[in-house]
Amino acid sequence: GLPEFVKIVEVGPRDGLQNEKVIVPTDIKIEFINRLSQTGLSVIEVTSFVSSRWVPQMADHTEVMKGIHQYPGVRYPVLTPNLQGFHHAVAAGATEISVFGAASESFSKKNINCSIEESMGKFEEVVKSARHMNIPARGYVSCALGCPYEGSITPQKVTEVSKRLYGMGCYEISLGDTIGVGTPGSMKRMLESVMKEIPPGALAVHCHDTYGQALANILTALQVVWFVFQMGINVVDSAVSGLGGCPYAKGASGNVATEDLIYMLNGLGLNTGVNLYKVMEAGDFICKAVNKTTNSKVAQASFNA
Ligand code: HMG
Ligand code: MG
Repeated sequence: GLPEFVKIVEVGPRDGLQNEKVIVPTDIKIEFINRLSQTGLSVIEVTSFVSSRWVPQMADHTEVMKGIHQYPGVRYPVLTPNLQGFHHAVAAGATEISVFGAASESFSKKNINCSIEESMGKFEEVVKSARHMNIPARGYVSCALGCPYEGSITPQKVTEVSKRLYGMGCYEISLGDTIGVGTPGSMKRMLESVMKEIPPGALAVHCHDTYGQALANILTALQVVWFVFQMGINVVDSAVSGLGGCPYAKGASGNVATEDLIYMLNGLGLNTGVNLYKVMEAGDFICKAVNKTTNSKVAQASFNA
């Protein structure tokens, strides 16, 4: 058994472009997001309201947010690490936000310059303000299957941080394999722990593909949960062309490619509502713009066919 519908959260414009060496021109980002909006995707993560000294690639967050055409039926969340980012996001027109924590103390320090405990205080302020404005807040947990600084991370720690974020009002917790070191084995063990505290309907997986395990890990997440609860995780994050990586997780490669994810889900007979061909075209557009070849095996195979 598997869920019948899988919601894809496209993170290419944010996770993808935050890690490109070249800073992508704002008008290209806007065109990219507008193209993605016409593929059937229902959630597109647009940008981050973080410090431009830390992540110069996202410095044009306000222009991007204001410049995109917001299509009906599509949601456009943005990352907000603290109240300052949240206020700027709202001023730019954001109507959905994500806070991003970690299950690793060292990664939290390197990524957002504070401890896990301190980050929870900041996120609580953000989520509380968001709730007052009826703005849905999502919560990320990075290093859910391993940390670039600490190595393995216990499922208990992932569960504890997830529970804090869920408890403060995040409607969905996205479990991030930030550096793509997880396997179906570690994914299963981690989810079995997290699912004891959080309903699977409020979970998402966010897999980077560094070790080539992302699709296997995603399939495990869809299946494991189903076997235990008869209801599944049905939200998966991905980035078109397999773009992505975190500047504070050295060696981490791209996210699972949206094209490859859709191809697998289509093959399983699971509906996503997303047009694979149109996603490949949007991927081709951004790859040409940043002058790189796609990391999507499906796009490679299709364009060579
Ligand atoms: P900080 O230096 O600790 O902040 O940065 P601060 O509160 O001490 O303030 C210092 C300065 O930063 C001040 O400016 C603030 O105004 C400014 P100054 O007075 O010195 O001129 N500042 C800000 N500026 C813009 N936007 C803000 C903001 N907040 C303070 N929101 C901060 C803390 C979080 C801002 C910083 O560490 C940062 O920007 N980090 C970047 C984090 C990031 O974007 N990482 C990548 C995304 S996470 C990811 O990729 C993982 C994920 O994909 C899941 C997965 O794969 O696991 C989500
Ligand atoms: Mg990521």
